[in-house]
Amino acid sequence: MATVKLAVIYYSSTGANYQMAQWAAEGAKAAGADVRLVKIKEIAPQEAIDANPAWKKHVEAAKDVPVASLDDLEWADSYIFSVPTRYGNVPSQVQQFFDTTGGLWFQGKLANKVVSAMTSAMNPHGGQEATIQGLYKTMFHWGAIVAAPGYTDPILYSAGGNPYGTSTTVDQEGNIKDNVKDAVIHQAKRTVTVAGWVKAGAQADK
Ligand SMILES: Cc1cc2nc3c(=O)[nH]c(=O)nc-3n(C[C@H](O)[C@H](O)[C@H](O)COP(=O)(O)O)c2cc1C
Repeated sequence: MATVKLAVIYYSSTGANYQMAQWAAEGAKAAGADVRLVKIKEIAPQEAIDANPAWKKHVEAAKDVPVASLDDLEWADSYIFSVPTRYGNVPSQVQQFFDTTGGLWFQGKLANKVVSAMTSAMNPHGGQEATIQGLYKTMFHWGAIVAAPGYTDPILYSAGGNPYGTSTTVDQEGNIKDNVKDAVIHQAKRTVTVAGWVKAGAQADK
């Protein structure tokens, strides 16, 4: 079967989604994928970053991670997104990135990508499912194929049992509070597996 090219695309202010993205990249590589780990560009004013020590620290820690580009979207067969919850919604940085994808969408280049998404929030019921649905809503418009985890492995129950995509709670500093690493790895492997099926089917159909 042809190797799946997977882009793990994240946005993070204080590091939680960077950590989840790293676990996803690890899981996808273990599943045989060719992986790019990229961050969505920071567009917040420098004063806002400087006013929050945890945010400032994370920006410095992730300074060498490449910034996500339209080329990453075109290159990959499959995407995993990981973004924080903002008032039950997708962060503006992520929405801004999505708003640059019109040209690719118009050319049909975002159709049939196999995708899944993850998030974090401060509260157990702080809007995690709404954020993931917000991400998937854009991807439905792309014509992407959502490979949500559902309840496809018992590991999901001990990670909070979110069938939309792995989610966790975090503290003020962005430390992950739940036991989600194995669920992230399972989600990444599942996304790669489904992407492999779709890629093989598309190639067989040519
Ligand atoms: C503007 C803003 C809005 C937020 N909205 C919510 C929210 O609706 N529910 C919640 O539980 N946490 C909320 N949070 C907390 C973030 O979700 C949390 O800081 C984030 O998941 C940390 O991820 P990161 O370390 O990757 O940046 C909010 C944080 C900010 C700065």
